[in-house]
Amino acid sequence: MCGIIGYVGPSDSTPILLACLKKLEYRGYDSSGVGVLDHHSHLIVRKSKGKIKNLEEVLKGEPLPFSNVGISHTRWATHGLPTDINAHPHVNNAGTIAVVHNGIIENYAPLREKLKKQGCYFVSQTDTEVIAHLISVLYKGDLKQAVQKAIAQLKGAFAIAVISKDHPDLMIAARVGSPLIIGLGDKENYIASDVPAILDRTRRVIYLKDGQMAVITMDKVDVFTFAGQKVTPKVDTVSFTVSAAQKEGYDHFMLKEIHEQPQGLANMLKNRLPSGKLNLEGLDVSDKVLASVKKITVIACGTAYHAGLVGKYIIEDLARLTTEVDTSSEFRYRNAIIDKHTLVVAVSQSGETADTLAAVREAKAKGAKIISICNVVGSSLARESDGVLYTHAGLEIGVASTKAYTAQLMMFYLLGIKLAQVRQTAKPARLKDLIKQLQRVPDHQKSLLEQKAAILKIAEANSHFGCFLYLGRNINYPTALEGALKLKEISYIPAEGYAAGEMKHGPIALIDEYRAVVCVAVQSHVYEKMISNIQEIRARKGNVIAVATQGDKDIAHHVDYVLTVPAIDELLTPLLAIIPLQLMAYYVAVKRGNDVDQPRNLAKSVTVE
Ligand code: M6R
Repeated sequence: MCGIIGYVGPSDSTPILLACLKKLEYRGYDSSGVGVLDHHSHLIVRKSKGKIKNLEEVLKGEPLPFSNVGISHTRWATHGLPTDINAHPHVNNAGTIAVVHNGIIENYAPLREKLKKQGCYFVSQTDTEVIAHLISVLYKGDLKQAVQKAIAQLKGAFAIAVISKDHPDLMIAARVGSPLIIGLGDKENYIASDVPAILDRTRRVIYLKDGQMAVITMDKVDVFTFAGQKVTPKVDTVSFTVSAAQKEGYDHFMLKEIHEQPQGLANMLKNRLPSGKLNLEGLDVSDKVLASVKKITVIACGTAYHAGLVGKYIIEDLARLTTEVDTSSEFRYRNAIIDKHTLVVAVSQSGETADTLAAVREAKAKGAKIISICNVVGSSLARESDGVLYTHAGLEIGVASTKAYTAQLMMFYLLGIKLAQVRQTAKPARLKDLIKQLQRVPDHQKSLLEQKAAILKIAEANSHFGCFLYLGRNINYPTALEGALKLKEISYIPAEGYAAGEMKHGPIALIDEYRAVVCVAVQSHVYEKMISNIQEIRARKGNVIAVATQGDKDIAHHVDYVLTVPAIDELLTPLLAIIPLQLMAYYVAVKRGNDVDQPRNLAKSVTVE
């Protein structure tokens, strides 16, 4: 959460910082701020509550002078309300040192007390302000040394950028647990929380590692360990395009990303199934280990957790291997039974989710092998796993995850097939047929996207409901959970996902004519059971929107609206059934006038616990 940008170069820093910062707004948008060093050795800070456009208004009224060095921040509040005062940068009492921070300083309270005793006074409620004061009291003329001494006292996760009026030509960056990259330009350098922010300025980046800090000037970047040892960092060239970070004619990134799913999956199948033969490059776990593993434990959060739930059905069906799925935040504190015979599959789009990283470390400490299903190349999760299956779904900017989800599902199908092959738990003909059907999924998804006008109509007709239930059974129970999550995230309508068989055990009490109930009722061995559940809802006057298989002539008699998906093997239906639910959530949110790409209270990467 929170986005950081820093610039050192010959140009005026403020417009560059603002342009880059806007591309990080998906990480948090409670408040924003900018701090620059002008040519008269002044450190000047401007901040504003709310989105970056508010900061721009402030800057119109009080413009910043030309400056070659600056840092900026967009905030997702953890400690302290989203106010002007709590916005970053935070400065020391002399106003000579400014800090922006992404993460949480866990020991900020004792540090604050200690610093108060040393004469510092605090103006904000943030944990970050302690960093500015700490560096200040430790500063004896060498900024790098003061930062180094300060971070040695910090506990928690942080990515920071620091500037000082006494050093008008440089900025200092450091990270533990929160991402930070350095962009290398031509006689200018950047720091950023994420690559897209600086993509149209440079493609040469250094992924700063945990426990590293950097001293950055116009023409030099020196990287050190926190212990002060100089290291030679690896310089990567980012391959994804600037267009990946632009809306390209779509109204929102979410809509663009929904439409990118067929192509993303087609690319994945091309790479992973060249001439129909499975290539799980990156898995880095031998067939022998895969054949002998006793249990799989999937850990993930949010949408990635829902992908893991679908993964359970796939792996248990194809590989006959016990698969448990847990949210990372629960797993990490529940003393799970994990040993060297357990294969842990960590799923994360960003690869930076703090809970998932902590859960992985916990599982590793218990001896498990870790493979991750991850989208962001080079992320912390990828680096900490024994093997990585990259989904390569491309940059996902919309806070509501869509294309990363179906890419994660696809990877679970491929992993399930691989496990079934080495464990010889499914007939080769069955696996061959599944592969053939998987290859048709991109075209099926394309045809679904062509139905968006019909989905828009249904969404608009139902957008007034104040409460939605999503029901599904078996492998589409997670589809119901994911459909509900999509709707609540961006429309703010209370939406609950349930296993349809659980209805009678409580949720049915909610049903009346004021509820909309979305039922995933595609053709499967539980279809008849779903129809019975739908009848029970109709008997209580609930409004039913069904996701059904094309050609199902009967379903229209039981429900108010039907969204259809192409016929496919039952096991593969989650790859299709989710598409109309993503679109429906999107259209409901748009109809309600919500900010789809930046829903309230959320951030794209949850890098704090
Ligand atoms: O980057 P990750 O996949 O680890 O993120 C996990 C969740 O934070 C994420 O899926 C979140 O639930 C999304 N907003 C869902 O749309």
